[in-house]
Amino acid sequence: MAGVLAAQAVTPLFSAERIAERVEALAGEIAQSSPRDLIIVSILKGSFIFAADLIRALHREGLAPEIDFIFLASYGTGTASGGEVRVLRGVETDLAGREVVIVDDILDSGRTLAFAKALFERSGARSVRTCVLVDKQVPRATEIEPDFTGFRCPPVFVVGYGMDLAHRYRELPFIGELAEG
Ligand code: IMP
Ligand code: MG
Repeated sequence: MAGVLAAQAVTPLFSAERIAERVEALAGEIAQSSPRDLIIVSILKGSFIFAADLIRALHREGLAPEIDFIFLASYGTGTASGGEVRVLRGVETDLAGREVVIVDDILDSGRTLAFAKALFERSGARSVRTCVLVDKQVPRATEIEPDFTGFRCPPVFVVGYGMDLAHRYRELPFIGELAEG
């Protein structure tokens, strides 16, 4: 079965249980910053599972965030950063005056998150903060420090919990390193 084989090629780094704990903690941190008029903008596709869990954790913290999505692309089907970031689909919401928290799965070169942050600042948001589940420990091409970070991870290619390689592995409930080859 293809699904079983796919899971075997991945070495777990962060279990589903650890992810769930960190997501609750991140929601707590966001709630402590007392956002008014909070809107979560999830960067597709990679952050859809993280964002889905995070907004329900924010609900448990007593918040009622709005959610919107932006579809950005910088990767092809390989594991190397493409450089240029493109908007495949923008947000629907008018972000003027809003408190935005951008949610992404993983911070790598920094280009995607920096691009989204600059874009939303230009649209007149009152504040734009960033939340990443995984901060990959690599030199950034664009300097950016996330406001909320779930985990730091070594400079390897990871998949699962929404993250893919060539559209595979997103369904894994844990985050793991893809075996070579
Ligand atoms: P950056 O623009 O180089 O920071 O890359 C950020 C985007 O690249 C993320 O939103 C991910 O979609 C993707 N990405 C970077 N590293 C990985 C990885 O290890 N696994 C899966 N996707 C990754
Ligand atoms: Mg992504």
